[in-house]
Amino acid sequence: MVKLTFMGHSCFLIEDSSFKLIIDPFLSGNPVAAMKPADLKVDYILLTHGHGDHIGDAVEIAKRCDASVISNFELSLYLGQKGIKKTIGPHIGGGCKLPFGSVKLTIAHHGSTLGSEVAYGGNPVGFIIRIAGKTIYHSGDTGLFLDMKLIGELDKIDIALLPIGGFYTMDANDAAKAVEFLRPRRVIPMHYNTFDLIKADAQEFAKKAKHHGSDCVILNPGESFTVE
Ligand code: NI
Ligand code: MN
Repeated sequence: MVKLTFMGHSCFLIEDSSFKLIIDPFLSGNPVAAMKPADLKVDYILLTHGHGDHIGDAVEIAKRCDASVISNFELSLYLGQKGIKKTIGPHIGGGCKLPFGSVKLTIAHHGSTLGSEVAYGGNPVGFIIRIAGKTIYHSGDTGLFLDMKLIGELDKIDIALLPIGGFYTMDANDAAKAVEFLRPRRVIPMHYNTFDLIKADAQEFAKKAKHHGSDCVILNPGESFTVE
């Protein structure tokens, strides 16, 4: 059993009976954040890329919780310079086994400056996360790409987390095409309605996802879904 809690924007807390993981912990300055960073207790932090709305409070949370941070190699070097002791920095197509299961890095078509610094953080990534016998795909910020077919072919995805907000990433139409490529059992939309620039209609997306055979689970910030 794996529990996912949507924390707002692209941030998800993932829990099994032993471990807590958080992806892209953008909470401070996030108008829809479901929790304060100081209230979090996690074992692992996964970062898709260096933009401020993804790296967020990662440095503070990692230091306070003594959490391991998993990101691409370049971002892991940067985090090391920021004083994070436990960094894990594999790269696209690779990954690693971890006490909760495993993580594999996928491509994502986007950029990655480092927080507010205009320095480059390597290629942005998505994650295939295996935990408690379930497979979760978090695409990170990305445009639609045909290789999503391959991602869906290599892994039976129990739940896909996809951006639908447009402007910086796929919009709901392209995300519906992503569902067709990935064929996940379920999909949760993310990276929308945080700001006016990325407004989207999740119900419209849900209809399109259903057409491609996936159940869409719409979570408001703070709401959870348990993958049985
Ligand atoms: Ni971004
Ligand atoms: Mn973003």
